[in-house]
Amino acid sequence: MPRQAEPQPVRLVDYRPPDWLVDTVHLDVRLDPAQTRIRCRLGLRPNPAGRPDAPLILDGDELTLERLTLDGADLPAGAYDASPSRLTLHAPPRRPLSLEVETVVDPSANTKLMGLYRSSGTYCTQCEAEGFRRITYFPDRPDVLAVYTTRIEAEMEDAPVLLGNGNPVEAGPIPGTSRHYAVWHDPWPKPCYLFALVGGRLDRITEPFVTASGRTVELGIYVEAGKADRTAYAMDSLKRSMRWDEEAFGCEYDLDVFNIVAVADFNMGAMENKGLNVFNDKYVLASPETATDADYANIETIIAHEYFHNWTGNRITCRDWFQLCLKEGLTVFRDQEFSSDQRSRPVKRIADVRLLKSHQFPEDGGPLAHPVRPDTYREINNFYTATVYEKGAEVVRMLKTLLGPQGFRAGMDLYFERHDGDAATVEDFLACFADATGTDLTQFALWYAQAGTPEVKVDTSWDAERGIFELLVTQNVPPTPGQPVKKPMVIPLSVGLVGPDGADLPAVPEEGSAGAAAPGVLVLREPARRFAFHGMTARPVASLNRGFSAPVRLSSDLSANDLMFLARHDSDPFNRFDAAQTLALGHLVAATLAVRAGIKPSEPGSLIEAASSALADTSLDPAFVAQALAVPSESDISREIGRDVDPDAVHAARRSLRRALGAALAPVLVSTYERLAIPGPYSPDAASAGRRALKNTCLDLLAEAHAGDGIARAEALYRAADNMTDRFFALSILAHTAPVEREPALADFYERYRNDPLVIDKWLALQAQIAEPQTLERVRGLTAHPAFSMGNPNRVRSLIGSFATANLTQMHRPDGAGHAFVADTVLTLDRRNPQVAARMLAAFKSWRSLEPVRRASAEAALNRIAGQEGLSPDVSDIVTRSLAG
Ligand code: TRP
Ligand code: ZN
Repeated sequence: MPRQAEPQPVRLVDYRPPDWLVDTVHLDVRLDPAQTRIRCRLGLRPNPAGRPDAPLILDGDELTLERLTLDGADLPAGAYDASPSRLTLHAPPRRPLSLEVETVVDPSANTKLMGLYRSSGTYCTQCEAEGFRRITYFPDRPDVLAVYTTRIEAEMEDAPVLLGNGNPVEAGPIPGTSRHYAVWHDPWPKPCYLFALVGGRLDRITEPFVTASGRTVELGIYVEAGKADRTAYAMDSLKRSMRWDEEAFGCEYDLDVFNIVAVADFNMGAMENKGLNVFNDKYVLASPETATDADYANIETIIAHEYFHNWTGNRITCRDWFQLCLKEGLTVFRDQEFSSDQRSRPVKRIADVRLLKSHQFPEDGGPLAHPVRPDTYREINNFYTATVYEKGAEVVRMLKTLLGPQGFRAGMDLYFERHDGDAATVEDFLACFADATGTDLTQFALWYAQAGTPEVKVDTSWDAERGIFELLVTQNVPPTPGQPVKKPMVIPLSVGLVGPDGADLPAVPEEGSAGAAAPGVLVLREPARRFAFHGMTARPVASLNRGFSAPVRLSSDLSANDLMFLARHDSDPFNRFDAAQTLALGHLVAATLAVRAGIKPSEPGSLIEAASSALADTSLDPAFVAQALAVPSESDISREIGRDVDPDAVHAARRSLRRALGAALAPVLVSTYERLAIPGPYSPDAASAGRRALKNTCLDLLAEAHAGDGIARAEALYRAADNMTDRFFALSILAHTAPVEREPALADFYERYRNDPLVIDKWLALQAQIAEPQTLERVRGLTAHPAFSMGNPNRVRSLIGSFATANLTQMHRPDGAGHAFVADTVLTLDRRNPQVAARMLAAFKSWRSLEPVRRASAEAALNRIAGQEGLSPDVSDIVTRSLAG
């Protein structure tokens, strides 16, 4: 087979408005397992802003054209060309046209899970980014907005539930047949990526919601038969999201119904189709017996995220896919704010920054680095990244920090008012904030254009005689692929000055040096700048980048004593947490290097002290203390080391710190564990979850140190637990720290939950994460287990994704067997589901920072993939970028 011709990359600078617009779409879909027939009538008209005499080109993907008529008449053979990927009308008359296209697709054979497919018998669709073209020929680009009417027909027996976008219009049996139909109409013009339909045997729960202006909306959640009793939390999250969006952003819902469908086979988390969100069932279904606290928190966030897209994404959509962050970064920011208001704001911020550092920072520092708004892509599916989502949210957060809450809200209000119904750009978005507040955001816009995590360095100086404290702040944005040289960015640094008694001193720098932002926020716009604070009676300790106000890598001359002091006294809870983490990370980096050099690491005395004082302070939120006790992850340590990383040494250093903490703190860990083990029915609320998190973190350290009967307590907790959070935490402790006790526990867990795929995912993921050489064989064995399937993305991510991304010692085995296994899986998976394969391949993103032996083996695995013929564009794009440079 010849090598695939490399498709040309798409470039932002080449954007042209569409030549033809679509006003209306009438779809008639006859669902059938293998031969679904789609009749699609388009009301087209030439775009006044398009090229005159342009042909009409519609996108397709693996389509076959069954019929084509223009204004009701057949077309002569020479008037058009149809291929699986394109339908061209060479010289259509330049006037409004009615084009009718008929295609047939096979939903059962659709293993890519893009377009129309079947998931456990349910017909469903996924059209973002470019899946609609797998259903019918269409100008598949987000700036073509149309009003859709969808008629769906199916066997009554097969699909008693038929759902579409918008509002239900009519439904009924088809007389004389075993079939029935439903018609849906969506009055809001939308791009085709927001199209969806569903047909299946589904159970549902419904509840009414009355909007701020008094309209009643019927909310529905549809799930596989027998699972409706696990939807209560999702429904509750939805209602709270709807109310919150009215209160926080003035956004009200705009249809008579809002439906959510949970499916078992889904490439990502969920999808915001207008009025018909489709979810990975992992983010809908929850009961105390099957879902952990983390699952509940994810459900709340993702339900909110998809709902919030109704305004940021759907009412205002993206002009082109380069603008993806316009909807995703903004909507992540909105869901973060929602969860902060529903739960503990500081704890949510800590969790979000942890995610940013663990996922986005490595991306930004490796071969796959790209700007929040990329300017070129070969496969858009590969740009649903931590950079676009998480860093995109940080950029919106900085805007709020710089403009203040009122300025930010004024900008958002203007955005909704000015761009409702538009396919907008990042420039449109920024112009709203500039216009609403009279701020020049030209330099700020670099956050969208320049990749790489800025490095900010702070040097402090103290003039005791004159009472002047000074910060010298410098910035450097490192080179990234395609961007060797960077300009200085606007960096809002929230700064506190903490006095010797632990109280904040006024942090107002000498006149004129603060910039426009709120009090306490220093704005760095230059490569370097001094900020001087006068009239200080004693040397303060600088608390820098409070609340992580800027997504940067910060280094400073703060001493270990300063950090200890901040860990105890900082009024900013994020920085109290961060000071302790910085101390721990410093220790772990030194310990890792010591392990590699065969030297005994130094004693973690001050870390034990910091942990002990956090445990002793019962006025603190337990969820916060749990975060403070969490030892930085192996990937945090590896990132901090940066080059020549030996994952075994990292693992050993981390383990020895955890043992030391567990051993030294055993009495207080035991008493905290016992104090928080309050009996009573499970409740998923944040306070209860926080108590469980702290209690289980204590148990984890005890078990690691084999102190305080940790292992026996974990076994007891495993047996006695009445909820999945405790039971699974106990199982994890046993799996990681008790090689003998874990096997019967793993076997018991499987027997208990063998009929519950989402719980079995936890079982698969846990086994894949055990840091011992036998794990690779175990994982290989589990790929043949009846519970595993290469066709289900959740199973694949749980087993193989966990191994590749959450088991650094085994993924990066020095003999290369981990790399080879993941590479083999990527190649196998690529033939079935390229999107999921490409995401798994991204696990190699930090390969260059490994020590030489492992680096060579990673490179060999990547080269082997690159040398394969017939790679998907998805995998080919990731492997090419991973190896470049
Ligand atoms: N827009 C979806 C979200 O943020 C993301 C998404 C869901 C997606 N399914 C997809 C993106 C498939 C690409 C392909 O919430
Ligand atoms: Zn989204």
